[in-house]
Amino acid sequence: MEENFTLLEQNRDLIDIAELRMDYLPVKELRDMNGIRKRMGIAAIATFRKVCDGGRFRGDEGFRRKTLLDAVQAGFEYVDLEYGFDFPEVEAAVLNKGTAVIRSIHNFSGVEVSKGSIKGMLSLPDSEIPKIAVYPQSSKDLLGLLQLYSTFKDREKKIIVGMGAYGFFSRILYRKFGSLLTYCSGAEASGAPGHISPEQLKDVYNLDIITPDTAVYGIIGNPVMHSRSPHLHNAGYRKYSMDAVYIPFPVDDPDQFMRFANTLSIKGFSVTVPYKKDVIRFLDNVDQSVIQADACNTVVRKDNGYEGWNTDIEGFFRPLEKRISLQDIKRIAIIGAGGAAGAVIRALKGLDAQIHIFNRTEEKARILSQKFGIRYFPLSSYEEIERCDLIVQTTNVGMHPLEDKTPLPGYRFRKEQIVYDLIYTPEETIFLKEAAAAGCRTINGLEMLFIQGKLQFKLFTGVDYPEN
Ligand code: ATR
Repeated sequence: MEENFTLLEQNRDLIDIAELRMDYLPVKELRDMNGIRKRMGIAAIATFRKVCDGGRFRGDEGFRRKTLLDAVQAGFEYVDLEYGFDFPEVEAAVLNKGTAVIRSIHNFSGVEVSKGSIKGMLSLPDSEIPKIAVYPQSSKDLLGLLQLYSTFKDREKKIIVGMGAYGFFSRILYRKFGSLLTYCSGAEASGAPGHISPEQLKDVYNLDIITPDTAVYGIIGNPVMHSRSPHLHNAGYRKYSMDAVYIPFPVDDPDQFMRFANTLSIKGFSVTVPYKKDVIRFLDNVDQSVIQADACNTVVRKDNGYEGWNTDIEGFFRPLEKRISLQDIKRIAIIGAGGAAGAVIRALKGLDAQIHIFNRTEEKARILSQKFGIRYFPLSSYEEIERCDLIVQTTNVGMHPLEDKTPLPGYRFRKEQIVYDLIYTPEETIFLKEAAAAGCRTINGLEMLFIQGKLQFKLFTGVDYPEN
């Protein structure tokens, strides 16, 4: 309880109501509900879940009922009772005290809820608030979740939550879907999969200004939940007081996601690995940048369909042009021969410069070099790398959790070289540190990430990303 109270104090200003998960507490701490309720000093929900309902309590049912009864008597404003929970004493106390009942159903393995339960939940008395928490497992399940919202749309008070990464959007957009509240957890604590902290809800997702009319943007990819793009876009919306929000959407099936995006009228989305090519088939119009890159990282919804753009290429070039005139680059070293290397080579092909690939695995280097008609070398050909004006590092060596590694151990940079590392976590890799120490001009992946994101912001909203 002391840990709970500490968390509550840390988050008091950020929340409207606190849920006490009694099933997370040692039984001996549950004896003084009056004391707990008083000390909470904020509107409160009492919840005591059994393991079979997704909670932690394995003990005696009589004790659980008695403790719930104590909570109602102690003045908790809400009590969460599972659908099917039948205990007349608690029900009588609830009526007597005017406690609101949250009547809950959970599905931790999908979005299905039996017809009988739906019917029962729809016919609950107005004094009870139906709560349905489901766990979408795929893009297809998103449509099932939307179906639940539509089934309950006429019910004034309800709570419908999608758990996990696929359901994350429902926590952010709860007002859009008419849910009474959204759940979050402070610090390390987590009451359910997909919870984020109250600070993140407020500071990253501008939760306090989201309304039913808020325009929805986002990013699709797999994995995508750790993307930094929500920080960038949402900060821009906040600065301009725009009624918009940007959310990560993990996707395992782009066709299903597009159905979901159409239903939800998503206004635009960024596209990341592995869908930059695949998404092109959904576009009604493509900008020249998509053709040039053979990849699309920005989709904008227009009256006449979806429009696709690629801001990665400009995002890559702008930091470079800030440091050197492109026609002065005569020889370029690409470190790595994966997907990112291919995209960079495609962008650089237009320059009047020789491009060389340096890769650990010869076979992959050979395939890429044949595709673009350029030469390749082993990664250890340091004397060849030394002849290049620009080095572009495209491997994941140096990226968290490999931050103590460099793809070119012992390589001595020439101070005239421009060194570009696509990695942005950490901001400065060992590779870039060594280059900077040798006096090179360096560019990190964060600069590129910001520029491509700011260009997307303009495509989404029509206005430039705010200064500073
Ligand atoms: P991405 O799409 O991000 O480019 P990728 O297609 O998996 O990812 O490519 C990763 C690149 O990093 C490859 O060129 C890989 O080298 P191999 O072709 O030899 O696999 C390179 N890479 C990964 N780990 C490496 C390491 N420890 N040392 C050198 N190169 C490495």
